[in-house]
Amino acid sequence: MDLTHHNSSLYHIASASKTPERILVTGGCGFAGANFVRYVHAMHPEVNITVLDLLTPAGNLESIKSLLGDGVEFVHGDIRDEALLDHLVPGHDAIVHYAAESHNDNSIANPEPFVKTNVEGTFRLLEAARKYDVRFHHISTDEVYGDLALDDPAKFTEETPYHPSSPYSSTKASSDMLVRAWHRTYGLRTTISNCSNNYGPYQHVEKFIPRQITNIIEGIRPKLYGDGLNVRDWIHTEDHSSAVWTILTTGRLGETYLIGANGERNNLTVLRDILRVMGQPEDAFDWVKDRPGHDRRYAIDSTKLQTELGWRPTHTDFESGLRQTVQWYIDNPQWWRPMKHDTELVYSRRGQ
Ligand code: NAD
Ligand code: TYD
Repeated sequence: MDLTHHNSSLYHIASASKTPERILVTGGCGFAGANFVRYVHAMHPEVNITVLDLLTPAGNLESIKSLLGDGVEFVHGDIRDEALLDHLVPGHDAIVHYAAESHNDNSIANPEPFVKTNVEGTFRLLEAARKYDVRFHHISTDEVYGDLALDDPAKFTEETPYHPSSPYSSTKASSDMLVRAWHRTYGLRTTISNCSNNYGPYQHVEKFIPRQITNIIEGIRPKLYGDGLNVRDWIHTEDHSSAVWTILTTGRLGETYLIGANGERNNLTVLRDILRVMGQPEDAFDWVKDRPGHDRRYAIDSTKLQTELGWRPTHTDFESGLRQTVQWYIDNPQWWRPMKHDTELVYSRRGQ
């Protein structure tokens, strides 16, 4: 009897409680991925990290540049490149899959890259993980559950049925389903996390909070979609990172964990917070046309993650996290200014 194989099979169905020595982080030059790389580098410096990133307009090597050569290696490439994955995946004991097309507005304008990267790309990675028997953690979003009514007391849980609304969220839902099937059918050692909206440093200026902060810095009026009452459940990106690390190292294989920090706020309130923090009058913004199919409200119940794995968020004061984020954009114009002009051009063509 092959004991090595037997032991590893047991490990497949039990838990993931083993600290990986070498991880492959896809999309590690994007917002959430780069913050995760920075978090692991700071908290677990013994872990070697390979970042695989295509550097689409959403990716920025500057976000991790200071770490390169110090336990962090960068590989420029596409998660759909089978030959590259054959070369790269062996030797890693976990893949943490952040790479994605991630912006709803872009998915409405042109869904094709979302299907290619989020669905086909995840499929390719799963196949490589299966071929080389590598533990796989899939990063996903609460948007797979669709939306909740403003007056509904409910929050999303791991049991909520999938009901995605946009091309973005439907491709993320598809990728989640692939991960579940690869676990059940092939016994791949997987976990999935579905997190709520992140805020913090290194977020592309096309997203809500950094767009408004950098608009104000540039003297452009912030833009609010629709009636501004859509609710997002904000979590600091560092809390997302610590939750992913917890699930990667102690989560039960085959399980899904929702990540959130009780940060529900409507967009109008967040925008007024930003204006106040930046010393502007609270009506100094423009109302613009709504996003088609705009999800009304997201809200996460993270009880499972908190009770089963003992994870807790640390950035529980939104206003203080927001102040730090504003300060980061004020201090780092060289990071965001190169992408600002083109981003606003795209928005102005869409009338937003
Ligand atoms: P992002 O758009 O900032 O970054 C995505 C990264 O993936 C970029 O660096 C990009 O270059 C890279 N990439 C895109 N296509 C690729 C490909 N084919 N091959 C290799 N790399 C590729 O996105 P983000 O906000 O950091 O989100 C990352 C992940 O986290 C996504 O899967 C998203 O669904 C999930 N998520 C994000 C949030 C959030 O609020 N940002 C919340 C929950 C879940
Ligand atoms: P976004 O950051 O695009 O994240 P998501 O679509 O994944 O929730 O948008 C967050 C919320 O802010 C969403 O309700 C749309 C809204 N929004 C605006 O009101 N104005 C803007 O300029 C942007 C980019 C978003």
